[in-house]
Amino acid sequence: MSSALVIKNLHLAIDNSKDAVPILRGINLDLRAGEIHGLVGESGAGKSMLGRVILEILPPRAKITEGSIDYPTRPLPGKTKGRSAARHRPHISLIPQDPMTSLNPVKKIGKQMSEILRLNQTGRARNMLDQAEKLLREVKIKNPARVLQQYPHQLSGGMRQRALIAMAFSTKPQIIIADEPTTALDVSVQRQVLRLIQDLQKQHGTTILFITHDLGVVAKICNRVSLMHSGMILEQGNVAEVFCTPTHAYTRSLLAAIPRYDRPLRELTPVAESLQLQLQREARAYDHQKRN
Ligand SMILES: Nc1ncnc2c1ncn2[C@@H]1O[C@H](COP(=O)(O)OP(=O)(O)O)[C@@H](O)[C@H]1O
Ligand SMILES: [Mg+2]
Repeated sequence: MSSALVIKNLHLAIDNSKDAVPILRGINLDLRAGEIHGLVGESGAGKSMLGRVILEILPPRAKITEGSIDYPTRPLPGKTKGRSAARHRPHISLIPQDPMTSLNPVKKIGKQMSEILRLNQTGRARNMLDQAEKLLREVKIKNPARVLQQYPHQLSGGMRQRALIAMAFSTKPQIIIADEPTTALDVSVQRQVLRLIQDLQKQHGTTILFITHDLGVVAKICNRVSLMHSGMILEQGNVAEVFCTPTHAYTRSLLAAIPRYDRPLRELTPVAESLQLQLQREARAYDHQKRN
């Protein structure tokens, strides 16, 4: 299978006035075209920052200090229109974690969607609104014509996330970064939104980097998975293999911490603090070794 994105030995640091704080440490990631790749890790592991590197929306003081990012299947320059061709990279979209803060609160949904569509094609405003309505219908929003005339606060969390998913897919991106897209939603809505992302992914053949801290979600929708801690990928592979025969202690520990209906709750073992500390020590030792 061809690769949509290949990251090799990527290092990223935040430049403070005094020194550079390492955030990503030697990341290797090969996103195969058409796969859903899970990126798992606890808070602060560096998942969103890796997503931001790919989207090229890094915070001001964040710098790539080493490594490379390639898009082997990118469209040839000149064959596509607009900015993405000029930058020689395929079109990449984001499905964000928090649908409320990711939408503009003072603009109607229809206006926000038309603006995105107009950035990516030429045409009349009326035509864009028709397209937006069709897109809302595709993400199973009932009464899309009415929703186009509403403001974000008038929609439920699930509806807002559906609208954002419609926007993410509207430009026919090759790659989508889904950064914890269901974390802010109720459990029942989470399931529907996951199913929707899966359906659209299949329909369009999109490559998705699916960021989550939920291994259950990974088991359900991902082909491969990378486990991250302290800015490093500790384990990577096919979901079935990683779940059945995890090689890293951290992966085993995370898997043991998943509640299962066929086991008593008292058998749950949270990730040990000693393991956390060991991983942090390893990260610091790695930084030290690199500096010298
Ligand atoms: N805008 C920022 N400026 C400086 N440091 C940041 C910024 N965003 C995140 N970080 C730091 O980068 C590390 C990784 O953060 P992040 O990628 O958001 O983790 P995750 O998404 O896995 O929870 C954390 O130590 C965090 O404090
Ligand atoms: Mg994050």
